[in-house]
Amino acid sequence: MNILALESSCDETAAAVVRDGRMVLSNCVASQIEEHKLYGGVVPEIASRRHTEAISLITRRALEDAHLTLNEIDAIAVTHAPGLIGALLVGVNFAKGLAAAANLPLIPVHHLRSHIAANYLAHPELEPPFLCLVVSGGHSHIVRVEDYTKFTVIGRTRDDAAGECFDKAARAMGMPYPGGVHLDKAAMFGNPKAFALPRPHVDGSPYDFSFSGLKTAVINLLHKAQQRGETVDVNDLSASFQHTVCDILCSRFFAAAQMTGDTTLVLAGGVSANSGLRNRMKTMCREHGFSLFLPPLSLCGDNAAMVGSQGYYEFCAGSTAGPALNACATLSIE
Ligand code: KG4
Ligand code: ZN
Repeated sequence: MNILALESSCDETAAAVVRDGRMVLSNCVASQIEEHKLYGGVVPEIASRRHTEAISLITRRALEDAHLTLNEIDAIAVTHAPGLIGALLVGVNFAKGLAAAANLPLIPVHHLRSHIAANYLAHPELEPPFLCLVVSGGHSHIVRVEDYTKFTVIGRTRDDAAGECFDKAARAMGMPYPGGVHLDKAAMFGNPKAFALPRPHVDGSPYDFSFSGLKTAVINLLHKAQQRGETVDVNDLSASFQHTVCDILCSRFFAAAQMTGDTTLVLAGGVSANSGLRNRMKTMCREHGFSLFLPPLSLCGDNAAMVGSQGYYEFCAGSTAGPALNACATLSIE
């Protein structure tokens, strides 16, 4: 089954063709990052306009790269939630029009479910159940993937997402948007023990996260240094910050695994590209004798191939939509 998949939940317009949920025939992404960089973050209105301009061309390219015509496509999958509402609406409406014109089934796909599915494309042997840490710019969840379309949230952030915390800390250190990847690079040259940063816990919720206090601690540290006329070693602060975030994420993820009894652990979302997190997870899984699956770097960020993978399993579970499909800015993964 060939699925044409579309993704427009944030600042990448993406289209892909995926066969039977596991084989990528094409994967095209038009990134808007250079434009949003000028403003230090994603400007929703600009994102919607750029999606509108790019979506027809990127879809055509995905079909061309797959050497297929629309006649050889069996269904259309689209990210319908969660994300920036104006951005999502572009993909949803384009997919609805295309599905109606070509008389194809339309499959709505949850963005976080698709991030998890990125792993199915890289690891043919991976099948649910497993425990997954989904860390992106907008979400931080510990999710038990019971089956391809059945999810139980074990823990979540109570405030900022991990990626958002990376980006805000990086911005305070003068790095361009999106800062996570720049902070990751700076951290490679710093001392992770140079600064002691807080590791906030959520009372009574051992698997939940809270990152806003850590973000504020970094911002305050930089402000105080500036007021005193002192310079802060950005590499050291990046390394200490990354070390702290990885500690928080990994300790709660492993505690959750102990509680559920899962021994297959999976990472997903943009922050799963972080070198510190990947290395820490590898070390800890080796020590515990757990199996670890990481998405390849090319599939960590937003893309449509992951939508095509999850879309296949949603279709197999009977989840299709009609012309009344709408986009949702927030929607539980469950
Ligand atoms: O999943 P994603 O591409 O978009 C959302 O669904 O939000 O995640 C984007 C987030 C951004 O916050 C970005 O800074 C972060 O992932 N990110 C990283 C790295 N690469 C991307 N954070 C830390 N280290 C990285 N190497
Ligand atoms: Zn994402």
